[in-house]
Amino acid sequence: MDRRREDRQGGGCEPKRSDAPALCFEQVTFGYTRVPVLREVSLQVRGGEFVALVGPNGAGKTTMMRLGLGLLHASHGTVRLFGERVEDFEDWWRVGYVPQRAGSGAVLPVSVEEVVRTGLTGHLGLFRRPRPHHRERMEHVLDLMGVAGLRRQPINELSGGQQQRALIARALVTDPSLLVLDEPTTGVDADARHVLREALEHLVDVERVSVIYISHDPEGFEGLADRVLEVRAGHVTDLTRPQREETSEERLWRR
Ligand SMILES: Nc1ncnc2c1ncn2[C@@H]1O[C@H](COP(=O)(O)OP(=O)(O)OP(=O)(O)O)[C@@H](O)[C@H]1O
Ligand SMILES: [Mg+2]
Repeated sequence: MDRRREDRQGGGCEPKRSDAPALCFEQVTFGYTRVPVLREVSLQVRGGEFVALVGPNGAGKTTMMRLGLGLLHASHGTVRLFGERVEDFEDWWRVGYVPQRAGSGAVLPVSVEEVVRTGLTGHLGLFRRPRPHHRERMEHVLDLMGVAGLRRQPINELSGGQQQRALIARALVTDPSLLVLDEPTTGVDADARHVLREALEHLVDVERVSVIYISHDPEGFEGLADRVLEVRAGHVTDLTRPQREETSEERLWRR
């Protein structure tokens, strides 16, 4: 397959602008210890783009997203969300994040509806009540993820796949412009995968959401991803981009 190192492309993390990329890494280096997990990684995820992130266990995919969401801090380089440095970013409602699940997860015994509503807490503050458009959005995302019928059920009594769908609904309730899903289909059956895929198609085609989808299962993003990036040995490679420019002769033949 033709490959090109995404991180050789340079950055271009332009400062705050309306058409700035949803997420931008510029020469980002990070390690939990002195050994870097990521080395001078540059990449951009543009508005409305669906990017799949693949790579072996331990390559640094989750780490990359935690850097992107300001949960970890780069040793070198710049991370921007919608053009703003992640350290200064405040509009967190614009980002939906569904973290990678560790085992069955310690989920509190609250109902699906309550879990989804907590997605609004950062947006509303603790004590303000949801307004009618928030309620409408809640109904929409419960429907979209196929969990409207489970709204009164305690989330810890649901199956793993149902819980996962409720958590995705929670990430969507603020109507984010960027959705980050870390291994969303782990432990999820074929029906739930189908619901997730239809929801993603709707989010990309209708709501123009940028999606970063981390997965070991290519079926989940086949036909959806604009680009597939591989994280390996500290670097990010774009698996979808040709390695070199076409010659004029090749271009002619392609017509
Ligand atoms: N909190 C942590 N402290 C120290 N090292 C960590 C921590 N979290 C991850 N690592 C290490 O950083 C590297 C990258 O881990 P990361 O979780 O980002 O990989 P991943 O690509 O998401 O893997 P997987 O496909 O298994 O989810 C691994 O070597 C891992 O052991
Ligand atoms: Mg991971």
